[in-house]
Amino acid sequence: MKISVIGTGYVGLVTGTCLAETGNEVICVDIDKEKVEKMRNGVVPIYEPHLDVLFERNIKANRLKFTTSLEEGLDHGDIIFLALPTPEDEDGSADLSYVLNVSEEIGKKIKNYKVIVDKSTVPVGTAEKVHKVIAKNASCEFDVVSNPEFLREGFAVDDFLKPERIVVGSSSERATALMKKLYSPFVRSGNPIIIMDEKSAELTKYAANSFLATKITFMNEIANYCEKVGADVDMVRVGMGTDSRIGKRFLFPGIGYGGSCFPKDVKALQKAGKDKNYDFKILTSVIEINSAQKTILLPKIENYFSNDLKGKTIAIWGLAFKPETDDIREAPSIDMMEGLLKKGAKLQVFDPEAMPNIEKRFGNRLNYSESMYAALENADALLICTEWSIFRTPDFSRLKKLLKNPVIFDGRNLYNLNDVEAEGFVYVSVGRKT
Ligand code: UGA
Repeated sequence: MKISVIGTGYVGLVTGTCLAETGNEVICVDIDKEKVEKMRNGVVPIYEPHLDVLFERNIKANRLKFTTSLEEGLDHGDIIFLALPTPEDEDGSADLSYVLNVSEEIGKKIKNYKVIVDKSTVPVGTAEKVHKVIAKNASCEFDVVSNPEFLREGFAVDDFLKPERIVVGSSSERATALMKKLYSPFVRSGNPIIIMDEKSAELTKYAANSFLATKITFMNEIANYCEKVGADVDMVRVGMGTDSRIGKRFLFPGIGYGGSCFPKDVKALQKAGKDKNYDFKILTSVIEINSAQKTILLPKIENYFSNDLKGKTIAIWGLAFKPETDDIREAPSIDMMEGLLKKGAKLQVFDPEAMPNIEKRFGNRLNYSESMYAALENADALLICTEWSIFRTPDFSRLKKLLKNPVIFDGRNLYNLNDVEAEGFVYVSVGRKT
């Protein structure tokens, strides 16, 4: 099939590349000339495991092309994916200007039947809006379909190639048939393509992300309470998670959720509720609790140093909002670092992938270390913000030699309490005994 993908951000790039992998002819469109030139030369503009291999293979096979010309993209695809940014407006709602501007152009330029697919996370009613905007100028038939994406950064390729489900919001049989054909290679395992109306599909995405953010937040509250009563949240987590109605995943407590999706989507759904006079009280609490959770370790660090962090050097492991990505959007590490800097601490930081992005944001306010151990040199304490695998089994005796004080503040509960204590460390984590 002939596919066009408008927007080569995270979702667009993964969608385009993975659709090429099953033999479709894909053209990806982006207005950023420099980025398009790089992609033509095989450079993947984001860090995402396994994407580079697929990228190279499909470019070589001539199935994956890039252009800055929207016209070329619109001519090419029978199915046109919109994978455009929907940034957060000042009031928390999703800004649809990119989506609607491109829709306007689509209306003016398409010459034969097309299926326009909303792939971005968009508020309920967007497919209807997109349809109206295109219909103003369109001289041929078209359908608009909502097809939210559920991939996770760091696992995006696997999530796209082997999805647990595909949600398609469509009220046109013609468009539904094309979408089913396009996705059939990805659901050979028997996982479902769930067909529903456009609005329900749009809401499914917000509901799923908000539910997961709530699940994490609930566990963070249980963790905070565990500390009050001397219980161990990791035991509670396992005890709860083995109930299949609850499930083991997304129950890991820590210093809060971040990223480009959960924070934005929870706020957008809360705002969308308000617009319809519906008060999502649970989401208001989730936003509030998560914001406080990000700096939950700060008073504990201060307390250890008798409320004086001036001149103290803190080593930080992990800056990305989660492992296997260089993305730092809404990362808890940012709130922690701002808090520590404000208290006068010096910071020596290390992350396997996110250092360039952090450097762009913090400049010379931080010391950037070459390795996880280099960050510890002459530091007064270690703080862990992201659970990269490399941090899971450190050489504790080396850690002890490098750190001025044997103390670890762990925002992701990486280590077994007894093991770390046996190594002679003071170990402060989330929801467990100190
Ligand atoms: C999330 C969803 O998981 C995807 O299904 C969705 O498609 C995507 O948003 C999106 O809307 O595009 P992502 O933001 O890549 O994916 O990352 P997650 O793996 O979901 O993690 C989000 C945050 O929750 C991270 O900060 C992570 O550290 C935190 N988290 C996750 C926890 O604190 N505890 C957990 O148990 C799980």
